[in-house]
This record gives sequence, structure tokens and C-alpha cells, in this order.
Amino acid sequence: MRQFTAENLTDAVIARHKDAQDPRFKQIMTSLIKHVHAFAREVELTEEEWFEGIKFLTATGHKSDDKRQEFILLSDVLGLSMLTVALNHRMPAGATEATVLGPFFVHGAPEFGHGADLTQGAKIEGEPTWVAGRVLSVAGQPIAGAKLDVWQARANGVYDIQDPAGEFELRGSVKTDSQGRYAFRTYKPAFYGVPTDGPVGDLLRRLGRHPMRPAHIHFIVSAPGYQQVITHVFVEGDPYLDSDTVFAVKDALVGKFQQIDSPAEAKKVGMPSPFLRLDFDFRLTPEAGARARQKIAASDAAVAAAR
Ligand code: BEZ
Ligand code: FE
Repeated sequence: MRQFTAENLTDAVIARHKDAQDPRFKQIMTSLIKHVHAFAREVELTEEEWFEGIKFLTATGHKSDDKRQEFILLSDVLGLSMLTVALNHRMPAGATEATVLGPFFVHGAPEFGHGADLTQGAKIEGEPTWVAGRVLSVAGQPIAGAKLDVWQARANGVYDIQDPAGEFELRGSVKTDSQGRYAFRTYKPAFYGVPTDGPVGDLLRRLGRHPMRPAHIHFIVSAPGYQQVITHVFVEGDPYLDSDTVFAVKDALVGKFQQIDSPAEAKKVGMPSPFLRLDFDFRLTPEAGARARQKIAASDAAVAAAR
């Protein structure tokens, strides 16, 4: 076939997918072509505009390396990362909601025990904060031995790994005790801007958008038999909660950093007085396999009870 027109070109491109081996890949590419062509038609895309688009994508690639992922940042600020998270983590009511991972998680951070001090070695001081809570199942059962990977920006809004000479600061993993409790000491996080020295920064400026993220602590909470949750806890009262540039805020993820003035309370947990305290529980959903096993166990129990 030849003589393609603005009317028949989309179908012609899709028809060329007929021998694609992987059905899911074929479905994704077919839908992508449909939507990209529909976009070009809707805005009557000019050649100059599409060339600008290609220049933007090229610059995004050039800005990316093993430390800086400008394409992920693009996906984040376009809301595509959070849309993908939302589509893939439809949690039952009460389960801790998932958010974006972001670019600042690193493997190999130190492992700490209960009551860890994540401020050890931190170069910039912040407000001393005690974070404590439990990891529970959605049904409310405490989960012992759950792992919490924790990371956050320094009090000046910069992550340790953004500093070329940076060593691990304000990050590490902690475990829950036999009653599902965890606790660690950190500094109150500050709001910060995502990197704006690349094409994504130019995009935000041209759209009249700010680059700010409300203050938060990142968590990955995992336990055998449960779905891992990648999430944040945000600081109540932060001025950017309603305009997070990556759209990650959920009401249930906003925590209260309460000032504790009692020296006796401070002494109990080994904090200076006064200090801030965040109490936050995480609730995990059983894995699909674990859910099936639980259903079988429940129906076995029901059968046994009926005998
Ligand atoms: C972060 O919270 O670390 C983050 C998330 C998305 C883009 C940039 C930073
Ligand atoms: Fe962050």
C-alpha cells in the first residue's frame, strides 16, 4: 500500500505490527501509535513544533546518565509515574498507599537496629525528630521483622547523593521488633525543588510551574508474605502539599511532626529536649499467594468449625 494520507496513515502503521511476536508489546505499541497520531492531529502539529519536540527529547537523553535520570524526572512531572503507580497499586481500604520511588534511593545504605540514629555523620543539622510506629497487616496484625528502607533530603533540601563528595546521610534500613514496632532518630525534612538545570526544568518554567516537592521522608516497607510498599510520609502543614510537582501526595500519608516539650519524654527515647515526634503506622496488603493461602486456611477453618 502507498499514497498515505492524514486520514489513513494511522491504520497503515498499525497494520505493519501484524507479525509482532509479543502480544502485550503489540498492544502497547498499537495504542501508543493511535494516541500519538491523535495528538498530532488534534493540535495540527507543525514540522517546526515537532522538531522542537525532538530537540527536547534529545536534550533529555543527553542530560541522563547513571546518576541523573532526566527521563524519570520527565515522567514524574508529567504525572505519568504516579498514574502508573495508581494503576498498579489499587490497595484495599486502610492499606498504606504507594507513591513514586524518585531518583534518590540507593542500594547498600547501612542497616540499623531499633531506635537507630540516622543523623550520625550528617553534615547539616536539622530539628531533632523521633519517628516511631508499627508495621501492621491491613487486618491490624503486627508484623515482626518487617524492613523499612528510609531516606530523605538533608535539612537544606539536598540529598546526600546529590553532593559529589557525599557519603550516606539520613538514610538506612531499620527492622520492626516482635510487636511490629520500629523507631529511629532523624532530622525534620525540608521541602525542596527537583533538579531544574536540565530540559525538564525548562519545561516547568515554560509551563509556569514551580519545581517544589513538599517535605517528606521516603520509605520502602517490606515483609515476607506481604506486598512491598514504596511510599512517603509528608509533613503536615507544608506549603507545597497541594501542588507537589510530582503529584505524589495522599491525605493518609501526611503525618504530624509534633513538638514534645517534656524532658522526661525526651529522656525515655534518648532525644534532646524539646524534640519533634512523628507517629506513623504502615499497613501492608498480603501478597496474592499469601491471600490465597489465607483464604484456603479460612475456608479450612470454616469447614472444620462446621463439622
Ligand atoms: C524525590 O522525592 O526524591 C523525587 C521524586 C520525584 C522526582 C524528583 C525527586
Ligand atoms: Fe524525596
